[in-house]
Amino acid sequence: MWNTLKVVGILTIILTWRLSDSVVYKLTNVKCESLNMSWVTINECRLKALSRNKTVFNFNATFHHPTNDILMDYRFLKRASGYKPWLYRRKIDGCRFLRKPYDALTIMIYIAYKDVSNINHTCPLFGDILIRGMYLTTSFKSIPYPTGDYMLQINWMFYRKIQFVTNVSYQFVENLL
Ligand SMILES: *[C@@H]1O[C@H](CO)[C@@H](O)[C@H](O)[C@H]1NC(C)=O
Ligand SMILES: *[C@@H]1O[C@H](CO)[C@@H](O)[C@H](O)[C@H]1NC(C)=O
Ligand SMILES: *[C@@H]1O[C@H](CO)[C@@H](O)[C@H](O)[C@H]1NC(C)=O
Ligand SMILES: *[C@@H]1O[C@H](CO)[C@@H](O)[C@H](O)[C@H]1NC(C)=O
Ligand SMILES: *[C@@H]1O[C@H](CO)[C@@H](O)[C@H](O)[C@H]1NC(C)=O
Repeated sequence: MWNTLKVVGILTIILTWRLSDSVVYKLTNVKCESLNMSWVTINECRLKALSRNKTVFNFNATFHHPTNDILMDYRFLKRASGYKPWLYRRKIDGCRFLRKPYDALTIMIYIAYKDVSNINHTCPLFGDILIRGMYLTTSFKSIPYPTGDYMLQINWMFYRKIQFVTNVSYQFVENLL
């Protein structure tokens, strides 16, 4: 059962990003936390409602030292009275990715934020890391995908040690028209 869900989860996450029509994505919550303030401080990690159907994500963190080794350890979770074990888990070499994007799902995440972020160059990453006004567009084409609350949880590791965490939750609603 859970394996089936995992497969469905992976496929739908990948496919809906491209294919959907009349579905609604809405960012519902963001939580960020630094686990090593001497390297990373989170200055802003907030959702802002611009209108009823558009909520944007603003993120601003300072990397106090340059890093040339970033591992994004991320999980997709689906909420059902508490977040269930992840649907999908992946570890991505961030610096390699920035040199040459790989991994389809990560590329989609990248597409969602690249135009509104300054993380658009190769490592080292240093200084203020910004995402301004990112939102999930509401008019993709759709294949069946369970309506629900999802969370993308990323543990950001530098040199194999976890430095900060970002939890981004969103809601996906099929349009019943
Ligand atoms: C992020 O989500 C994980 C998994 O649900 C949770 O264990 C962790 O406490 C969350 N972190 C923050 C900062 O909310
Ligand atoms: C915390 O950050 C400092 C740099 O400011 C680094 O030297 C240290 O190794 C980091 N600690 C961990 C546990 O990663
Ligand atoms: C938001 O809703 C308004 C009317 O309710 C609509 O005109 C607009 O196109 C919607 N925007 C998006 C991004 O879906
Ligand atoms: C990001 O946060 C830093 C530290 O608080 C601040 O100096 C800088 O102006 C902020 N950048 C943006 C674009 O908000
Ligand atoms: C990265 O993004 C910044 C801010 O959006 C932009 O000014 C800069 O030209 C971009 N750099 C590259 C290499 O795309």
